Amino acid sequence: MPHKEVHSPGLELKREECHVWHVSLEESDEDLFRLAAQLPDDEQKRAGSFLVAAPRTQFIVTRSALRLLLGGYLGVSAAAVAFRTNAHGKPELALPNDDLRFNVSHSGRHALIALSRGADVGVDIEQHRPLDDWSGMAQMIWCDADLARWQGLSAADRCRAFYLAWTRKEAVAKAVGLGMAADFKKLRVSFVPAAPACLNGLDPAFGLASEWSLIDIATPENYSAALAAKSPDVRVMEYRVTTQQLHQGEWFALIPHCRNHSALLK
Ligand SMILES: CC(C)(COP(=O)(O)OP(=O)(O)OC[C@H]1O[C@@H](n2cnc3c(N)ncnc32)[C@H](O)[C@@H]1OP(=O)(O)O)[C@@H](O)C(=O)NCCC(=O)NCCS
Repeated sequence: MPHKEVHSPGLELKREECHVWHVSLEESDEDLFRLAAQLPDDEQKRAGSFLVAAPRTQFIVTRSALRLLLGGYLGVSAAAVAFRTNAHGKPELALPNDDLRFNVSHSGRHALIALSRGADVGVDIEQHRPLDDWSGMAQMIWCDADLARWQGLSAADRCRAFYLAWTRKEAVAKAVGLGMAADFKKLRVSFVPAAPACLNGLDPAFGLASEWSLIDIATPENYSAALAAKSPDVRVMEYRVTTQQLHQGEWFALIPHCRNHSALLK
């Protein structure tokens, strides 16, 4: 099936800004089929390789929204956006000279797409689920000191603290491009519920913690999400959109919220 040429109106992203798009993954089977048919062949093949419906839907909808949004920022059609991946599978723009950076995350019925100019960016959203092996997971992500602090929390706070830590650490791991290959124990983040997101330490190969911004992203109940950007001061602008709105150019439906990270820290 030929790709429909979908052009988004020009979207402007300033250097000090980071745009975070909340994409709902509630699509009818008909919409899903239509979106999948507009993806290039290799992405259709990847969509077809998922045996389970939920991750297939996450991939199709998020990739479609990503193409439409990148097309909007670059001023090209969604079909013209070309990707390459780094050694750890992180998708990047194939354009050598463009400083547009992005990262995506999906979980349950929600996806996040984060974009910045020049600054490496990573985003993670997780739906809270009961874990079979809390202590095994906890030992995997925390150094001894942080593990002891987590174990000292009340049982009620432990689940929330775990997801706060996980999403904050994974956002940084995705920003540096390593994903799960990163040493999560070296990525030290705040995690006590109610304490603001803070990067306390990371592998020196990725710079000083003070060179980074780590920000929690508002989510529906029972989800946690975080954004990391290699820039000490970012203005985060959040938008909510469906792929249908993106296709139809219903930009008036967007709900922007601006947050100045440096202001939040004061
Ligand atoms: C990426 C990874 C962190 C995903 O974590 P997750 O919580 O299951 O999934 P999320 O929804 O948060 O993120 C998935 C998205 O992150 C992006 N991604 C993939 N690899 C990434 C990496 N190394 N760094 C940053 N982002 C990455 C992709 O866009 C992916 O979505 P898509 O496949 O729909 O395009 C994890 O699967 C990983 O580390 N993979 C690396 C695999 C690898 O090393 N492969 C070797 C070469 S291919």
